[in-house]
Amino acid sequence: MTKSVAFHSYKGGTGKTTIAANLAAYLAQNGQRVFLLDLDVYAPSLHTYFDKEPKVWLNDYLNVEGKRVKDILQDLSDLLPDASNGKLYAAFSNPKKEEINKLEAGSQNNSRLQLLRRFVELREELMEDFDADYLIIDTSPGIRHWSINSLAVADTILLTLKMGDLDVRGTKKMADEIYTSFTDFGAKSFLLMNRVDGFCLPSVHTDAVDNKTRPLTPDYLAQLSKDVGMGVLSSIPCYCDIQFSKREYLTILQYPDHPFAKQIESLANDQNIR
Ligand SMILES: Nc1ncnc2c1ncn2[C@@H]1O[C@H](COP(=O)(O)OP(=O)(O)O)[C@@H](O)[C@H]1O
Ligand SMILES: [Mg+2]
Repeated sequence: MTKSVAFHSYKGGTGKTTIAANLAAYLAQNGQRVFLLDLDVYAPSLHTYFDKEPKVWLNDYLNVEGKRVKDILQDLSDLLPDASNGKLYAAFSNPKKEEINKLEAGSQNNSRLQLLRRFVELREELMEDFDADYLIIDTSPGIRHWSINSLAVADTILLTLKMGDLDVRGTKKMADEIYTSFTDFGAKSFLLMNRVDGFCLPSVHTDAVDNKTRPLTPDYLAQLSKDVGMGVLSSIPCYCDIQFSKREYLTILQYPDHPFAKQIESLANDQNIR
């Protein structure tokens, strides 16, 4: 059975793309057939982790009735040093402004509803014809049309929070307004705390509501989880080398012994992902 995991957040820059791409590579490396989909259609960046520009983008599939799923899939399996039967495919989203606009508003030829129908077709084809074990979906922050479409097809929603830059009230409101409509239908949602107690960021956080600075103690994090109404699936520290690197790369493939890679490994092996 295919599992769909979507990464979402309230604010931008929380680590969705980084963690999604690393998790996808780890799962593929461990024998799974993984399809990594860039549904951050408003500000796509997944392709920068792979240094690949596709000829046919995810947008083309959604916009053009005749486009085939196989045309938008980039086979990235050759990046995996030892994948046994695992496969890693990605569908990238086009960062060009006019392409973003077409998906945002729909176009003369394609209403938003038609685009959504194509997205559902894409998902079904990946599950049935491409025998996907995993769909890993990267989304845009906040309450946006394509984020909601993506969350609607997810079995597991990971709400990624970046420590030090939290908006607890906004996050809670978003979770209350949107997540419950999916979790009522059986999806599971969890918090994924990123950049906790690292060296790059101080272990404090400034509350967006009262502007007070509070330490990021385990008690604080437990209260946060209670406030937002979700369990914590993972707490990933901040690593300076990842934070300050000039370009994005997949730690899991380049430095498999890095502590960040170990964090991805334990996330992948969590019973809610496996
Ligand atoms: N645990 C971490 N430690 C250090 N840097 C991180 C960590 N997670 C993500 N980053 C960095 O933070 C930046 C934002 O991450 P990104 O995945 O692009 O966020 P999002 O997709 O949510 O906008 C990237 O430069 C990424 O390399
Ligand atoms: Mg991103």
